[in-house]
Amino acid sequence: MKQLSNKQFFLNSFPRVRMRRNRLSNFSRRLISENSLSINDLIYPIFITHGSNVKEEVSSMPGIYRFSLDLLHKEIEYISSLNIPAIVLFPKIENELKTPNGVEAFNKNNLICKAIKISKKVNPYLGVITDVALDPYTDHGHDGVIYNNEIDNDLTLEILSKQALVQAEAGCDIIAPSDMMDGRVGAIRKTLDDHGHKNVQIMSYAAKYASSFYGPFRDAVGSASNLSKISKKSYQMDPANSAEALREIRLDINEGADMIIIKPGMPYLDIIRQAKEEFNFPIIAYQVSGEYSMIKGAIENRWLDEEKTIFETLMCFKRAGCNAIITYFAPFVARTLINRNV
Ligand code: PBG
Repeated sequence: MKQLSNKQFFLNSFPRVRMRRNRLSNFSRRLISENSLSINDLIYPIFITHGSNVKEEVSSMPGIYRFSLDLLHKEIEYISSLNIPAIVLFPKIENELKTPNGVEAFNKNNLICKAIKISKKVNPYLGVITDVALDPYTDHGHDGVIYNNEIDNDLTLEILSKQALVQAEAGCDIIAPSDMMDGRVGAIRKTLDDHGHKNVQIMSYAAKYASSFYGPFRDAVGSASNLSKISKKSYQMDPANSAEALREIRLDINEGADMIIIKPGMPYLDIIRQAKEEFNFPIIAYQVSGEYSMIKGAIENRWLDEEKTIFETLMCFKRAGCNAIITYFAPFVARTLINRNV
């Protein structure tokens, strides 16, 4: 920046310039506000489990439940009544169905495919997003298949493409690959197009970091206990890197992604901002399970104010450049916005 002359400095500075003038009254604060948060910005993750009449709390995520299919319609009705635009579905399948190659992922009648159909039946207008990755389905808890002691990229692509296809056939609107295999967006796009699903969108987890903030999620889908020996660092990104995130995002956009996800959320706002500046593309942040548990835990201990804290975190995502946020707080935020009548 250029140095200001003495005169300019005088004209631009205190007491003539008082930043607080604009902030003094509520009407003025409303006028100068640069960003806003609305129900349109929210995506809600829902955990599905096997069995019937099951609504069980995830122990590390107070207030978040796994639902069996027979109870799902009620939850879908509730989310619809709040006018939340979309949900993401995650399954916790029986241990007996988990295999080294995660083949249950492309069973047409698996938990997720059934859940998609239920959601579409209850409310065809609610956007249904499904995760593509093998971790809920593999007995080792990894997102891909293991060959020669490593997660094999190209073998995994074939399975992921089949997984995406059964989900599209069951009626999902958006495929969200979260596996971080190279080339998966292109492979999935091709499979979808070859089978007549040209309008199914792809929201790729383009920059997904190997993060400790996914811990509670792994409890929720039951992949934590299996995930012992190999870390996810050979496919998820190093939290030290940001130039690499931009390369990942560029590749996914070029392979045909319609929107991209950055994950986790709050510790990675700088990545969101850089991505927005570089690509000006629809960006979704994922405020992940560990962020939820951390904030919720502090709220339950009365160390933080519930409404103010949650709204502040989500507004910060908007300020950083997000179009929408995947958040476990979505129903709370929607309810609060409805009550505020804004
Ligand atoms: C797995 C997947 C993960 C999350 C979404 N999809 C966990 C992981 O990669 O281990 C995390 C979501 C959250 O923590 O809320 N493919």
